Parts: sequence; C-alpha cells; structure tokens
Amino acid sequence: IKTIGVLTSGGDAPGMNAAIRAVVRRAIDQGKTVKGILKGYNGLLNEEIIDMDKRKVSDIIQKGGTILYTARCSEFRTLEGQQKGAEVCRKHGIEGLIVIGGDGSFQGAQKLSALGINTIGVPGTIDLDIACTEYTIGFDTAVNTAMEAIDKVRDTSTSHERCSIIEVMGRNAGYIALWCGIANGAEDILLPEKYDYDEQKLINNIIRNRKRGKKHHIVINAEGIGHSESMAKRIEAATGVETRATILGHMQRGGSPTCKDRMYASIMGAYAVDLLCAGKTNRVVGYKNGDYVDFDIDEALAMKKDIPAYQYEISKALSR
Ligand code: F6P
Repeated sequence: IKTIGVLTSGGDAPGMNAAIRAVVRRAIDQGKTVKGILKGYNGLLNEEIIDMDKRKVSDIIQKGGTILYTARCSEFRTLEGQQKGAEVCRKHGIEGLIVIGGDGSFQGAQKLSALGINTIGVPGTIDLDIACTEYTIGFDTAVNTAMEAIDKVRDTSTSHERCSIIEVMGRNAGYIALWCGIANGAEDILLPEKYDYDEQKLINNIIRNRKRGKKHHIVINAEGIGHSESMAKRIEAATGVETRATILGHMQRGGSPTCKDRMYASIMGAYAVDLLCAGKTNRVVGYKNGDYVDFDIDEALAMKKDIPAYQYEISKALSR
C-alpha cells in the first residue's frame, strides 16, 4: 500500500482530530502518502479529497469536532454508492482507507473491503454503542461535558426544590445516561435497555423522596426514551412537585477532548495504520481488557453489547 485515505463519518466526536493526526503522522513515517477525505462518504462520492501532510494536522489534537468534517450518507448504503466509492478510491490511488466512525460507518467500510479497498474502522462515537470495544472516541469527553452541565442544573433544581428531568444523548444506547446517572448521583436513571414504561414507579419514587426530605430529584433520561418535556408535565401533575425538563443536546458532542480521548484516539489511529501496513483489511480497532485489539468487521458488527448488569444494579442502589 502506497496511499492511505482517512475519513470521519457519522456524528462527530471529540478526539477524532487526535485520531486523524495519528493516522497522518504514523502513515507518513511509514513512507505512505495520506489523503484526507472530507465530509465522510459523501465527500468520497463527490471526490472532495485533499493531500495531508504532518503540518496539516498541527494544532488540532486539542480541538473538538473533526477537521475533515463529517456527514451521514444514505447513498453509501446502496450498492451503486459503494461501487462508486471504490472507483473513486482507485482513481485517487487510495489502496487503504481508515474510517473513523460508528457501526453505520463500519458497514460502509465492510462493503468497500469486499470491493477490494483495504479498510480499517476506528470506533468514533460519543454513544459507546460499538459492541467489540469497551472504549469509543468521544465518550469520555461527552460524559464529562454532560456531567458538568448536570451539576449546574442540579444547583438550580435544589434551590427551587424542583424535580429535573435531564435528557442526555446516546441514540438507542444508555451508556451516557448510566455514567452520568452514577457520576451525578441522580435519583432515577432511565435507560432504553431497561425501561419498562412504568412511570408510576418514577412518580412514587419522587413522592417518597420528598417525604424523606430530599430537596431535589434528578432524573437522567436517555435520548432513546426521550419525551422529557411531556414526561415533566405528567410528573408535575401527578406529584405536585414543580418539574422542568432540560435536553442537553449537541453541546455534549463538542468541546476540547479529555486526556483519555486524546490518548486512546492517538493510539487507535496509529494502530489502524499499522494494520494496513501489515496487509490487513476489513478490521476494526477496539479496546478490550486493557489492550488495543482488532476484530474482523463482520464479526465486530455481529457482536452484541448490553448495559453491564452490576453497574446498573449499583446505580440504583446508590440513588436511594
Ligand atoms: O451518534 C451520536 C449522536 O449524537 C447520538 O447520540 C444522537 O442520537 C445522534 O448522534 C444525533 O445526530 P444528529 O447530530 O445527526 O442529529
């Protein structure tokens, strides 16, 4: 392989820039040419491709977002789109491609690999919802950002003796909610994986806590459950406790990456280059049991992940 392409795809995540920097510098040190593909698979199809060098990735490790921009691309889910993508790679001499993104992005990488382009996936998503890995780029920054925001909401919630429903991101996964729930000492944590739609339990818990003298009631609600505004209205009506909903939204995806995200993203980016240089394709980088590892993309996509039962049990026990 002489030329390696790199793109970021799906939702951006803090630390993606650290991964891009690592890819570029590691690949150049291995004697490769590196091309940056802008705006994910959309940019590949539109041939928005730029030459990368070591200076292009100076001063980015501390920045949120992705200097390559990102997008979700429906055209790339079609065979025609994938074939066109492989052709564009060949036209630009891109023999190896590193895709930084989530499961959806890895599906695209898997298809390109089948079409003869060596591809490696690097897990980049704040949601932590990639089964083959215990770490995804951006999760650490996102939970820290959300945690700090929730602390602030808690101050005002306590002053007003209110109940606060705070909705965090995560798509269909509850990892951000679980971590913030524990880290912020929430009274209730609603996770899509565990939600039984029994709002009465929540209402009873709020009433019970009020009787026990609690001044606030923080409910962390995962995006996968959603409907925080209407939930707040119903809870206020049923409990008589003034209730507000706060949806943290996209602020959770921005900001300067934490040390952990910079570190892990750097190692994973370099690792992806090393895989390509070793002649590997259709692999995804992961972090398991204290080590950086890689899996076949097909196997990685077939893996399942769930909220760790013990963590969930403790989250409930500590909220009482
Ligand atoms: O996957 C990251 C994520 O922020 C999810 O938590 C959320 O569901 C989704 O992206 C939001 O996507 P968009 O920015 O396209 O609205």
